[in-house]
Amino acid sequence: MKKEKVIIFDTTLRDGEQAAPSSLSVEQKLRIARQLARLGVDAIEAGFPISSPGDFESVHTIAREIRDGPIICGLARLVEKDIMVCAKAVKPAQRPRIHVFIGTSAIHTEKKLRKSEDEVLELIRNSVKLARRYCADVEFSAEDAGRTAGDFLCRVAETAIKAGASTINIPDTVGYVPPEQFGAIIDMLFNRVPNIDKAVISVHCHNDLGMSTANSLTAISHGARQVECTINGIGERAGNAALEEIVMALKLRPDFFKAYTDINTREIMRTSKLVREICNMPVQPNKAIVGSNAFAHSSGIHQDGVLKAKKTYEIMTPQSIGLKENRMNLTSRSGGNMVKTRLAELGYANTDYDMAAIYAKFKALADKKGTVYDDDLVTLMETSSGEVVKDAYTLDYLVVSCGKDVLPTATVRIIVDGKTLQAAACGNGPVDAATRAIDEIVGYKIKVDNLHIDAITEGRQAQAKVRISASSAEGTFVSSGVSTDIVEASALAYMDVVNKIARMKKFKRKVPKKTGD
Ligand code: KIV
Ligand code: ZN
Repeated sequence: MKKEKVIIFDTTLRDGEQAAPSSLSVEQKLRIARQLARLGVDAIEAGFPISSPGDFESVHTIAREIRDGPIICGLARLVEKDIMVCAKAVKPAQRPRIHVFIGTSAIHTEKKLRKSEDEVLELIRNSVKLARRYCADVEFSAEDAGRTAGDFLCRVAETAIKAGASTINIPDTVGYVPPEQFGAIIDMLFNRVPNIDKAVISVHCHNDLGMSTANSLTAISHGARQVECTINGIGERAGNAALEEIVMALKLRPDFFKAYTDINTREIMRTSKLVREICNMPVQPNKAIVGSNAFAHSSGIHQDGVLKAKKTYEIMTPQSIGLKENRMNLTSRSGGNMVKTRLAELGYANTDYDMAAIYAKFKALADKKGTVYDDDLVTLMETSSGEVVKDAYTLDYLVVSCGKDVLPTATVRIIVDGKTLQAAACGNGPVDAATRAIDEIVGYKIKVDNLHIDAITEGRQAQAKVRISASSAEGTFVSSGVSTDIVEASALAYMDVVNKIARMKKFKRKVPKKTGD
């Protein structure tokens, strides 16, 4: 059977942005749109132009700037003004689309809209026609289609197609319909809507019961040829179907779905990270495809299997989504083979050490620490040869001035090789200022990837634990510092990173950079 193309309609900038903690600027949305175009999506829903002047501006700018690529679409209610404003916003696009919608379930028509079914049909007829006057490409969505009575949904679709809609979108707006039932809705439309061959059936599934990807894929199996989805699955409440999950399922199982997309999957990770950063919405470590653990192996049995044949526990390659390689977490469950492989990667020949002794020490450390990082392993190797590894740098003094309308400034004094060195720096906040002052002295190029603060005791005098993950040319490091003063705790954690780097430099063993997160 011939494989058919599935249109990927990305709504990260509309449904996804609705759920972001703060709204995005035009510039930020344009950055995401450019990356979506690079990813190869077929359509970008850039916003809801009537909802605010900022949204109008974003849609208009994206329509103007993104050339030779995806359809640029704006959302509109079945309201004349919405449609006119949307038409104006998408006008500069090479391939503009107007997406109109109205609630069609009884709960929406009776309670929210207070309209009869005939009134809703009349509105669909007139509004789709109006939208068609401005734009050749009109999509119609029956909001809450999943809970809409079958007969009415068929009449809605037929009316919208007759009025000129070329895409009929079937949203499971509240993520309520199980996959089999959703597939039956798609079958019903193909079987009972007489003009269905004149439109593409699209689906838009929310994730309230964790079924959005399954529903989207089931709809594809039943003939839907457009899916609406978002990067990392962001969106209203529990989110929308995640683009990366649908795309990779289709890529990995063409035998089952008989469908393909034009997505450049190697751009998935980069897009995911950009959306996390700009929307300020991290993803959980175990998130399918793009979570930091999605290609990490922790159990000894799994690590042993992957070392022998990657396919034992990897159904897709990290490279296929744009990661360099998988990651093996060294924990108390890691076997000797894994530890030996890691040590070889760090530059230790197996003739350098007594494996049984090192493995026993490794186990003891892993039991205490949980994850054993590369720098821990290097320290363990070096201390096992009898040398006591002392910190190269000691924080001797830290003064920070900050407050409302004050430029944060820090002065630090550090002891190194018996000498006392002092430096001062300004920053975006007191922690930034303190770490910049430390950088002045040590001269390392350190990128702080993550800084996390926890109160580890109760009340106002709570102790703060600051955990920093940072990277440099020598590798990736995780450190922590504790104090009742969060700036001091941060500086101590940062100093620990500095000392780990110094140790790596001293032993001149280059740690390969970790991939992914
Ligand atoms: O979830 C939904 O029904 C929507 C429509 C506007 C398509 O987002
Ligand atoms: Zn939605």
